[in-house]
Amino acid sequence: MSSRRARRKPGVVQILSMSPEETQRIGSELAQSLTVPSVVLLRGALGTGKTTLARGIARGLGIDDPGRVISPSFTLVNLYHGVCPIYHVDLYRLEGERDLGTIGLDDFLGTEGVTIIEWSEKMDVQPEKAMEVELEDAGGDLRVLRIKFPNGGKVSCSRSTARSRKRR
Ligand SMILES: Nc1ncnc2c1ncn2[C@@H]1O[C@H](COP(=O)(O)OP(=O)(O)OP(=O)(O)O)[C@@H](O)[C@H]1O
Ligand SMILES: [Mg+2]
Repeated sequence: MSSRRARRKPGVVQILSMSPEETQRIGSELAQSLTVPSVVLLRGALGTGKTTLARGIARGLGIDDPGRVISPSFTLVNLYHGVCPIYHVDLYRLEGERDLGTIGLDDFLGTEGVTIIEWSEKMDVQPEKAMEVELEDAGGDLRVLRIKFPNGGKVSCSRSTARSRKRR
């Protein structure tokens, strides 16, 4: 990954991004470390780049035109078919736990595919064993990404696992 990468505390990797394109690239690279099923929690203020990162992850999981990955603000969840199912969830407009139930999150979370959740801080209970990414706007186009890998940073497998799962 980028040379601007530095490990601050165990299991947390900090990466600087200077552009939306770079954030997408980081997302694609992160996708390579995801197993199926996986959950990615994206946290950060409005406009910090969560959807941009989600596009990159989707590209890394086989979506050739990540521009069609748009924030599912009204439906709360969009489904894409890459090398595995990709559930893109945005909880910004979540009104409460009752709403959360209507998404059917429990039906797919941790059971199949890769689930990417923007505004995951709105969930009362955070999914376990998730990759967590906190994004911060550091001024201009600079973004700080703090990534906590599940298993304390151990990168356990790659896209090939997602592929082999799909074939089953
Ligand atoms: N380094 C960067 N990485 C990502 N986005 C950047 C960067 N620099 C500038 N931007 C701009 O910041 C905005 C990020 O938008 P994006 O929709 O990805 O944010 P978001 O966190 O999903 O917002 P929201 O909370 O509204 O869902 C875009 O307009 C993008 O062009
Ligand atoms: Mg967004």
